[in-house]
Amino acid sequence: MAKTKILLVGYGYWGPNLARNLNQNSDVEFTGILEIDKDLHKKISEDYPEIPIFNNIDEIGDDHDAAIVSTPATTHFSIGQNLLEKGLHVLIEKPLATSVDDCEILISIAKEKQLKLMVGHTYLYNASVIKIKEIIESGEIGKLLTVHSERLNLGQIRQDINVMWNLAPHDFSIISYLVGSYPVSVSASGNDFIKEGMHDIVYIHLGFDNNITGFIHNSWLHPLKSRKVIVVGSEGMIVFDDTQVNNQVTVYEKGVDWDKITKSEKGKNSRFEIIDGDYYSPQIETQEPLATEIQAFVNWIQLDKKPISDSKNGLEIVRILEKAQEGLLT
Ligand SMILES: NC(=O)c1ccc[n+]([C@@H]2O[C@H](COP(=O)([O-])OP(=O)(O)OC[C@H]3O[C@@H](n4cnc5c(N)ncnc54)[C@H](O)[C@@H]3O)[C@@H](O)[C@H]2O)c1
Repeated sequence: MAKTKILLVGYGYWGPNLARNLNQNSDVEFTGILEIDKDLHKKISEDYPEIPIFNNIDEIGDDHDAAIVSTPATTHFSIGQNLLEKGLHVLIEKPLATSVDDCEILISIAKEKQLKLMVGHTYLYNASVIKIKEIIESGEIGKLLTVHSERLNLGQIRQDINVMWNLAPHDFSIISYLVGSYPVSVSASGNDFIKEGMHDIVYIHLGFDNNITGFIHNSWLHPLKSRKVIVVGSEGMIVFDDTQVNNQVTVYEKGVDWDKITKSEKGKNSRFEIIDGDYYSPQIETQEPLATEIQAFVNWIQLDKKPISDSKNGLEIVRILEKAQEGLLT
């Protein structure tokens, strides 16, 4: 099968990771990098001497089948629209766009032009997250009760979007995937300490059917870096620590013995009995999630195999972000 010709748009912090993976993928012909900041062109030509560099979207020519957009979130809609109008399949880094209306326009252009539109919800391609989903579905931790997700650090503080729009697309996509549905209720509160109107700390509550809840804490004002997902089931609990290199996932046989109430001798202070059993870290094959994400995009183009983070998934996550944003404005 012919290689898919892919253009990368944006070579800031995240773009070089995409470039490395595009360059390594044997199903891809890496056909260029579009970067409007000319100061970065020297670095691009040092990293990839053979790859054409474009200054402007009007210069890219027609030698591309697809593009990956890794520019600031507020530019996703206009760049995505432009690329789709040019007839390219598009993978846009998270979030798909910064409003539901904009996502719907992108989706309708892609549909009309029969192009693939995907969003970079990278954690849906993370082997640890996929393993946790398997464990939940196996019934090992009993009934799913809550999923807590936190993404905390000092910085990197963005200027164009708040901490929730920057980080919570990961948390929303992970939690919705693990629960198996999108939330039916969303509420958020937080603070804008650094820049007025631009929240740097948020706490989000998600309500799902079957009384399952999700909790998210995002912060740019935290002394320690934390990237954790904690899953609580009726018969076990799982911790995913993405800051660890090895043993990222730990499964605990911890919980409450719902049927056993221990009566204290005085009769007043009866308590539920706690189960505090064994724990283990499942073996998880490590593959860079970004490599899997790009392969999913290529497989969609070449084999018509729809990925999990299609445009509908992108839209639903932006719908949650928009709803949560209402809470931050009140
Ligand atoms: N999936 C992940 O885990 C992950 C991690 C980090 C960032 N991201 C996403 O990647 C995207 C980029 O983030 P970043 O941290 O690299 O931002 P950044 O600001 O460091 O880099 C963005 C780059 O895009 C360039 N750019 C802006 N407008 C452009 C245009 N019209 N045409 C061409 N280039 C343009 C800028 O000059 C800059 O070099 C964001 O959507 C972010 O949410 C995803």
